[in-house]
Amino acid sequence: MSGGRQAMASALLVACLLSGGAFDALAAGAPGAAAGTTAGGGAHAAASASGHAAVGTPASYRWRLPAWAPEPLVPDDNPMSEAKVALGRALFYDKALSANRTQSCAGCHEQARGFSDGRKLALGSTGVVGARNAMPLANVAYLPTLTWANPNLTTLEQQALVPLFGDHPVEMGMAGREDLLLGRLKAKPSYRRQFARAFPERGGEISLWSVTRAIAAYERSLLSMNSPYDRYRYEGKGGAISASAKRGETLFFGDRLECYHCHGGLHFTDNQIHRRLPEGETGYHNTGLYNLDGGGAYPPGQQGLREFSGEPQDEGRFRTPSLRNVAQTAPYMHDGSVATLDQAIRRHYAVKGRAALGGTGANPLRSQFIEGFELSEQEVDDLKAFLASLSDAEFLRASRHADPTGAGRKPDSSQRKGR
Ligand code: HEC
Ligand code: HEC
Repeated sequence: MSGGRQAMASALLVACLLSGGAFDALAAGAPGAAAGTTAGGGAHAAASASGHAAVGTPASYRWRLPAWAPEPLVPDDNPMSEAKVALGRALFYDKALSANRTQSCAGCHEQARGFSDGRKLALGSTGVVGARNAMPLANVAYLPTLTWANPNLTTLEQQALVPLFGDHPVEMGMAGREDLLLGRLKAKPSYRRQFARAFPERGGEISLWSVTRAIAAYERSLLSMNSPYDRYRYEGKGGAISASAKRGETLFFGDRLECYHCHGGLHFTDNQIHRRLPEGETGYHNTGLYNLDGGGAYPPGQQGLREFSGEPQDEGRFRTPSLRNVAQTAPYMHDGSVATLDQAIRRHYAVKGRAALGGTGANPLRSQFIEGFELSEQEVDDLKAFLASLSDAEFLRASRHADPTGAGRKPDSSQRKGR
């Protein structure tokens, strides 16, 4: 078995990744990570490969996208296929991916909440509370960098290692237990069949390489572009949103509120990469949530981009989140410290950033676009109506994204057991 070698390689890679260093061996399919472990997969692989010669090529995969939307980019070594997405979905919902079998990815990323969790701060499988708010996963295929502040995490394949193996904070608790994880998967006949279908060119290999690729493919299939606002804006359906939401749109895209400077573009964020924008663009900003010392300090462990760049001017800068399905993803901000959209508007943006309400005044490092504004009650309602029109009810309920076993559809059920 080459499990030991894989485990060592992955441990190193994860350590490197979590410390923010550049790495790409696993992402690039390092020989160490890829070799071996085909035991039992050969026969299945031959069967499915003969049936679908082109399985796994981008051409054979149909994105469920509206005609007006650009296709996401996909890494060369991980072409989309239905079989891979189905496998990734099974893995995403499988509690066997956490060491104590209490938590799947979905434990912190629930479909009905836009794949966020409703908590201020994420709660790991061993009961450790993390430093960050769990992020929604709609349209992650369009993101050039992942997580709230780490500019070095550039692929979903890399990112999947963090919850699995990270120990700062512990999420799924698999650090040093790669063999346990792969052993559990290899022991299940249904997984052996699914890996064979998803990775015929690798003989159905069950490894961290294939696990992370299947999960990433599933995540790329989480496309949400069917909100009332999409139908109104891109499909010419004038009646799809209310008059109030239309007034809110004007406020959002106007220079009094400035929201669109950062929450612009297809997904209401200045972070995007896709076929028509292959270079990608990234935006990390300080919105003035904190100012502990009058000089712009954020709380320890909440310094944002600075934690990775070391640059003092990056204090408090976080990646602009998408606002799609935002009505479902409360509480808000990197630390979940804003409970409602009403608060985000009135007690944060309208006052030059929430810190301005405290003793030390507005954050001096905040973006020039956070200048405060006055809104009438009607205008606050209009802005909220616009934000609510970004929710895609079909996406939030679609059975193709739900737990394939039909279990665990109750919010938080996996979380409570995790204590
Ligand atoms: C304990 C809760 C928890 C679990 C379990 C968990 N996540 Fe997350 N997820 C988070 C938190 C918190 C963040 C934000 C992390 C940060 O910014 O440092 C996040 C961020 C992400 C992101 C980045 C999204 C973006 O917009 O950049 C992806 C992708 C993701 N998780 C996928 C997964 C996958 C795949 C799994 C299972 C292998 C998983 N998560 C398991 C809590 C969790
Ligand atoms: C300077 C860029 C910038 C501008 C302007 C801006 N935002 Fe943000 N927005 C961000 C960033 C960055 C975050 C995350 C901040 C954090 O977590 O510390 C954020 C977070 C949010 C969130 C929370 C989303 C979530 O999932 O947690 C909402 C809601 C929001 N902004 C709405 C607005 C509205 C409405 C406006 C206009 C009044 C606006 N933003 C203006 C950059 C900006």
